[in-house]
Amino acid sequence: MELILNIACGLIPLLYLLIYVVKENKKKKKRNYLYGFVTAIIIALILIVVRLLILNVLPTERKEQDNTTTTTTTEVTTEETTTKTTEATTKVTTKAASNYNYEKILNPSGGEVLGNTSKGYEVKKVNGLYYVDGYLVANKTYDLPENYNPGSLNSTVKAAADQMFAAAKNEKGFNMWAQSGFRSYATQKSIYNRYVNNDGKANADRYSARPGYSEHQTGLAFDVCATNKPCITNGFDNTEEAKWLSENAYKYGFILRYVKGKEDETGYIYESWHFRYVGKELAEKLYNNGNWITLESYFGLTSSYDSKPVGE
Ligand code: DAL
Ligand code: ZN
Repeated sequence: MELILNIACGLIPLLYLLIYVVKENKKKKKRNYLYGFVTAIIIALILIVVRLLILNVLPTERKEQDNTTTTTTTEVTTEETTTKTTEATTKVTTKAASNYNYEKILNPSGGEVLGNTSKGYEVKKVNGLYYVDGYLVANKTYDLPENYNPGSLNSTVKAAADQMFAAAKNEKGFNMWAQSGFRSYATQKSIYNRYVNNDGKANADRYSARPGYSEHQTGLAFDVCATNKPCITNGFDNTEEAKWLSENAYKYGFILRYVKGKEDETGYIYESWHFRYVGKELAEKLYNNGNWITLESYFGLTSSYDSKPVGE
């Protein structure tokens, strides 16, 4: 797109000038080239402004639009937005992965202690958000306030994702990016409603969070896509990229959030593309040498619209 616009910016004024000069040359009377030059410069300036608008404004407008994938009973195409949240995700950042840890971005002080989970972890509510052992949790039991809106993918999470994608590129030549990162309450609402309309509520609830229950609203989770591979659909499951992510994401602080065969724990069917940042320490524990443990099982949490958070 950028290349086409660049070529257009140069070529169109030049062509205009060429045609103008040829026309002037044919004239017998006094020739006036100045008018042609000035017009060509004006055309070039207009095209440059248009180019800037297209490149800078359009990506923002595309944010929070939904894609229009459909669902079938055998292959559920789930989610989401076409937000290219982290255009920069393929860029290598200079900071070392070890500079990022969960404690720096979450685990706030204060709030109200609600009690302990079945596995003995403290549940705290701070500004309407639930923290379990200091980790922000969003699932079918633990919801988020409608007005909780960090606005984008957390910068620490984005930096860690940059590193992960750069490593995948280095090691395997994979080209991956975070296709859908932060989603506001309103965006989730329209996505979820669309699925309910297309597929019925019972089906939609298996793969799409109701508004206020999506981990995407935390700004700590994203969906990965890879060049020329099925994107945010079950077709991604058996790709080399999905395998690499499942085996390596923990090194960058990410967990495979919706583990295969653990719908009864997480509340959602397997999503090979959805990763959540928890920091390296917990990520390695949940990775469990390749046999992923869910966040719910590890902390002793429910994820069901029928149950209430601990202490509520
Ligand atoms: N697909 C996940 C569960 C979400 O909608 O947040
Ligand atoms: Zn997701």
